[in-house]
Amino acid sequence: MEKIIVKGGNELKGDVKISSAKNAVLPIIAASILGNELITINNAPLLEDVSVICDVLNELGSNVSINKNDLSITIDSKEVKPVDANDELIRKMRASFLIMGPMLSRHGCFKLSLPGGCNIGSRPIDLHLKGFKALGADIEIGHGYVEAKAKRLIGDRIYLDFPSVGATENILMASVLAKGTTIIENAAEEPEIADLANFLNSMGAKIDGAGSGKITVDGVDELKGTNYTPIYDRIEAGTFMIAAAISRSKIKIRGANEEHLRPIIEKLKECGIIVEYLEDENSIIVDGRCNVKAVDIKTLPYPGFPTDMQSQMMALLTLATGNSMITETVFENRFMHVSELCRMGAKIKVDGRTAFIEGVNKLTGCDVKATDLRAGATLILAGLVADKYTEIRDIYHIDRGYVCIEEKLRALGADIERV
Ligand code: EPZ
Repeated sequence: MEKIIVKGGNELKGDVKISSAKNAVLPIIAASILGNELITINNAPLLEDVSVICDVLNELGSNVSINKNDLSITIDSKEVKPVDANDELIRKMRASFLIMGPMLSRHGCFKLSLPGGCNIGSRPIDLHLKGFKALGADIEIGHGYVEAKAKRLIGDRIYLDFPSVGATENILMASVLAKGTTIIENAAEEPEIADLANFLNSMGAKIDGAGSGKITVDGVDELKGTNYTPIYDRIEAGTFMIAAAISRSKIKIRGANEEHLRPIIEKLKECGIIVEYLEDENSIIVDGRCNVKAVDIKTLPYPGFPTDMQSQMMALLTLATGNSMITETVFENRFMHVSELCRMGAKIKVDGRTAFIEGVNKLTGCDVKATDLRAGATLILAGLVADKYTEIRDIYHIDRGYVCIEEKLRALGADIERV
């Protein structure tokens, strides 16, 4: 079983290049089912999750190929059929459920195994199904499957009780070929939604307002091919910003969008970290050579502080001067990293959805395990500054969402290796 071993104490220096956003590329690949001409996605992040969704499309009759040299993915979905995709593959990754909307829209029927929960929460799909029903689909759930049927989807108005990212994406993809106009209200506003809409519009869709809470879609009859480059990964960029802050280093992060990173930039500035955005280079300079002040954080849907940065921020705050409070409002069980950080000497108490962190002077290296994708990255960040060695197990979680994280950190001067 592979492990990542980090020896704490090195200062980081230099530049790091951020990859394209996993959470933009996954829905974009699912959306390519809607087109019947060749689609090329450039600068794709070569991640486990990306290969899983490409395998799912190949199972459905798409012709998907990943070019590891130029990082492009070409997809031809002319021959896609509503065959039963292999359950094991689907259940490998929750985001596979994002093919439901496009398959229902393109074929008028589709049956898919219900996505499992995962260890950050139950991850229900009720809002996805509410949207499909509003567009005229009949939904049947049973024996671990969900089946949706509709001769042709008809545009309608849909209000989301919670601005769910996945539900917004699935309903958006279902509505682009529907008859008439669809309005999604209380839609998620994450930058990845706007990127998905830009991708679909480049194929001939008519989507307005993506990235705001109200999205309007005028259905079209067919979608063409396109050549598209997704946005940078704001969570990977944020993770490297914390790497600079926690190791009291100054680094440059290439491939960063200031607006997408606004909540993280503002919070780090509140901690006393110096952050400078270089507009012309799409880069950020983070200078963490200072004392970190304690701050309070509440995770919220975008443009609030992202839940996907909650554990990374917690690692930083374990070493802040003073006491901090983090409230996780998006997922019901996203504090598994707390016990692992406490093994390293952090002082954290959890009460329901709030974690109380008492700043300590140092963390000590020890063996820990990744419990989800971002918690794994968090343990690497803690290892950068803990004394002696930190050994991280179950690193397959990390590979789902970070391209060569240890190579990128080693290039910055970290003493880190995968064994
Ligand atoms: C997306 O997950 C991301 N994944 C997650 O990133 C991210 O944490 C999350 O959005 C929130 O930003 C991808 O984009 C592939 P949600 P998603 O639907 O779509 C409740 C990572 O680290 N909900 O916005 O599953 C749900 O229970 C991953 O890259 C319903 O109640 O998130 C949760 O509490 C982790 N009913 C909340 O909404 C529904 O039908 C947020 O879920 C759907 C969701």
